[in-house]
Amino acid sequence: MQRIGVIPGDGVGPEVIAEARKVLDAVAEKRNLALEFEEFPLGASHFLKTDEVLSDETLQRLSKKDALLLGAMGDPRVKPGILEKGVLLRLRFHFDQYVNLRPVKLMEGVPSPLRSDAGRIDLQFIRENTEDFYVGLGGRVKKGLSKTELDLKRRTYEAKFDVGIELEDEEELAFQIGAITRHGARRIMEYAFQMAKSKGIEPVTCVDKANVLTDAYGIWREAAEEVSGRLGVKKEFQYVDAVALHMVRTPDRFKMIVAPNLFGDILTDLGAALQGGLGFAPSGNINPSGVSMFEPVHGSAPDIAGKGLANPIGAILSASLMLESLGQKPAAADVERAVQGVLRAGKHRTADVGGKTSTSKMGDAVVAVILK
Ligand code: NAD
Ligand code: IPM
Ligand code: MN
Repeated sequence: MQRIGVIPGDGVGPEVIAEARKVLDAVAEKRNLALEFEEFPLGASHFLKTDEVLSDETLQRLSKKDALLLGAMGDPRVKPGILEKGVLLRLRFHFDQYVNLRPVKLMEGVPSPLRSDAGRIDLQFIRENTEDFYVGLGGRVKKGLSKTELDLKRRTYEAKFDVGIELEDEEELAFQIGAITRHGARRIMEYAFQMAKSKGIEPVTCVDKANVLTDAYGIWREAAEEVSGRLGVKKEFQYVDAVALHMVRTPDRFKMIVAPNLFGDILTDLGAALQGGLGFAPSGNINPSGVSMFEPVHGSAPDIAGKGLANPIGAILSASLMLESLGQKPAAADVERAVQGVLRAGKHRTADVGGKTSTSKMGDAVVAVILK
């Protein structure tokens, strides 16, 4: 029995997760898998009703699961950050899901925004998921003297910052600290370069902005040098601005990109655009020896929520990544193949790519191929 905690979340989250669930039920039937689902009603409605974002008790219950499947967090009725940081980021940090695996693959039958000779788009995007400018350390101070104590607490370490600021001739200052540990940089490089080695991918493109943020991305580069040398897999360094350019102009030159958290967030929306749009992009928040969490790259899309317009493919492919991480490779492949089949046939297309198929009919189409 494999236990899956399901967090449908906000906006289109519940709509796309319902389709991922249908597909999981179908593949479980076909492959005789014992999957047990439990839903957790986290998100805006829960917060507005109870004033609770995410309780320790819920965390405790989630920690008993073999994997988590999440829709999206964020709602226009709630101040930005409360749910995104309070639920999504808290889960990623609590479960130390330091790898954010976001494969970028343009599937046959999906219209690309690029010119037709742009080449094959199929790359492993690996985003560090617990550090960098996501550590949540920051503050705002007014003119004069001030002191702020900041605490960075992770599963494996704690760092306390005493920030004393003397602000002259300016009314207010806001700051945000990015932090990268050697261990944090090394372990994401190890994950990436190991995967590159096993898949025969070379070179690995390491993204940073080491020409400006010389400390944070200095340690990042050192870790890449070390791991690349140790595992005997070639790497190249590229600055994030140039990577954005090359991803649009010549995306086929990339087979694996490793990026720090913030740049990885931005570049994976760009990656999603290359694979047809946010609705197609899956992701896994992975702790190789803990509880991992799978979710589409997109957010709650309040502009289209409740209308059956959302594309569920990203959520369905996230469920496939989840099956793979649970050791159910054949079932994961069934799901991916079924999605490929539906997209290639071109009969079913959601509104984001100019079609008329509803969210739920798209899920039905994938289920039909699995059970055929
Ligand atoms: P978004 O990803 O929700 O939407 C961006 C655009 O993509 C919108 O035009 C939307 O309609 C479209 N889109 C997204 N998913 C789609 C799908 N499945 N099918 C078709 N079109 C889709 O990003 P946003 O508008 O910047 O943010 C909305 C909310 O979601 C905010 O509260 C934000 O904080 C949150 N958010 C959450 C996550 C997450 O939970 N992982 C990710 C990104 C944003
Ligand atoms: C994503 C989202 C999140 C992130 C937000 C909602 C915290 O944009 O999963 O890409 O920045 O990681
Ligand atoms: Mn994002």
